[in-house]
Amino acid sequence: MIITIDGPAAAGKGTLARRLADHLGLAYLDSGKLYRAVGLKLLRQGLDPADAGAAARIARTVGIGDLDEPGLDDEATAKAATIVAAYPKVREALLLVQRDFAAHPPENRPGAVIDGRDIGTVVCPDADHKFFVTASLEIRAARRLNELLERGVESIHSRVLRDMKARDDRDSGRQTSPLAPANDAHLLDTTGLDPDEAFAAALALIER
Ligand code: CDP
Repeated sequence: MIITIDGPAAAGKGTLARRLADHLGLAYLDSGKLYRAVGLKLLRQGLDPADAGAAARIARTVGIGDLDEPGLDDEATAKAATIVAAYPKVREALLLVQRDFAAHPPENRPGAVIDGRDIGTVVCPDADHKFFVTASLEIRAARRLNELLERGVESIHSRVLRDMKARDDRDSGRQTSPLAPANDAHLLDTTGLDPDEAFAAALALIER
């Protein structure tokens, strides 16, 4: 079974994906971490995310084993990730990693939950269940601010909101695999929902 969960930053994709994977005994992949891993490797090697050739070279070296680096969560990494995510050659390299994960989930799990921006549209168009998760920009910025403060990263709401909007615009506006709901995706707006309610709503749609 393959379940895809797409949507903008901090919409609640990761929390929902992890809970569905646990509940259904499926593997979980946060595809954003692959793009973040490319961004982080570039930054660590002193390379410029605007260098499409370097980004593509690095992307070909990134795999599932690169997703535990603490630096992946930094906002600078997120920004670099959005820049490299617009390069077709980067997406091509990471597409192979994601399709391989979906076809051969680790630990012999009977399927996978994958979250990202283009999973239901491009990576796994034949998925069994697709969700497009959204929430208002205000609430998403508030959630991301909380995450940052909990990690001890000093931040302010207006700045988080501005950066998030810039990233959303870039993700929605790019030519290759822009952020968009698949035609057959269930739309789930989590603005007024806590994680339990979002999980219950998604599970009800799957069971139906
Ligand atoms: O956690 P958050 O939602 O803020 O971001 P993420 O899921 O970690 O993704 C970081 C960046 O990677 C996004 O802003 C996208 O530019 C890119 N990405 C993508 O293009 N396609 C995906 N399937 C996943 C992420």
